[in-house]
Amino acid sequence: MNTKINKIAVLTSGGDSPGMNAAIRAVVRNAAFSNLECDGIYRGFQGLIENEFVELGPRSVKNIINRGGTFLKSARSKDFMTKEGRQKAYDNLKSRNIDALIVIGGDGTFTGASVFNKEFDIPIIGVPGTIDNDINGTDFTIGYDTALNTVVEAIDKIRDTASSHDRLFLVEVMGRDAGDIALNSGIGAGAEEILIPEENMGVDRLLESLQKSRKSGKTSSIIVVAEGDQIGKNITSLADFIQTSLPEYEVKVTVLGHTQRGGSPSCFDRVLASRLGVGAVDALLEGKSNVMVGISHKKVVYVPFDIAINGQKKLDTDLIRVADIVST
Ligand code: F6P
Repeated sequence: MNTKINKIAVLTSGGDSPGMNAAIRAVVRNAAFSNLECDGIYRGFQGLIENEFVELGPRSVKNIINRGGTFLKSARSKDFMTKEGRQKAYDNLKSRNIDALIVIGGDGTFTGASVFNKEFDIPIIGVPGTIDNDINGTDFTIGYDTALNTVVEAIDKIRDTASSHDRLFLVEVMGRDAGDIALNSGIGAGAEEILIPEENMGVDRLLESLQKSRKSGKTSSIIVVAEGDQIGKNITSLADFIQTSLPEYEVKVTVLGHTQRGGSPSCFDRVLASRLGVGAVDALLEGKSNVMVGISHKKVVYVPFDIAINGQKKLDTDLIRVADIVST
């Protein structure tokens, strides 16, 4: 054990995701198990700058494993992007004798953490918490599985009304620049078309495909559109374009938005969060720093922040083929 670490702090930052609470719980309980003191920091890096700390023990995190969101709250801090902000953050950590930090969030969180680590040499471990599943080096991020289930449940409901009225629905899902949510929920919900940023289908092919599916006897259709997809200016303009080009269809739009970030985490996300939270404290005790704890081929792995942020996470192209085949 690295004897220099006696006290750690944990925060959640960026877009919240279901399972963040379970990850905090795992961090706090492994800290107690390993005889470390542990503080929580409210509102991510912003709370770190504004000195919003709370002491956490095993009982402070009871009854939260099933709760969505993050009880520590989250923020996207502009002040942490400045040197002055980071200096304040460091001073606050030192004034509380905190030796190391665990940050739960996505690529923005890891970027901030990496800069902070290089400037102030404080050990930091990242835990991937985002519904987008867009972090390189981990097969899954915390919250992604729950978001997928939320999307599939919503599209199942849309399917009922789409088929009753013989309508074409465009359903926009989150994911920022990544198509993981769209592709996987699209397959899971039986969508006719899935539009993702990683593959530009082009409007002509889309129209052709819709005409073909009409001719094949389909009376209603669902198109899942990733928010980062570039095919139209936005989902409404795409809907207008399809409506004008194919008047035989009645086109409707649903934007699922932040519903995808809420709700009780799935069992998969709870277990993942528990493993990664425990792994984060283990990593500090092993003297690791500036790495993300992730999961790869069912094993906990440690990935340098630079690789997690800048490496290209590849979309599974086999899934695109599967989507094409099963939607015919
Ligand atoms: O990164 C998670 C995410 O939900 C993205 O899918 C989405 O683009 C973004 O956050 C929305 O952020 P905000 O809640 O700040 O509008």
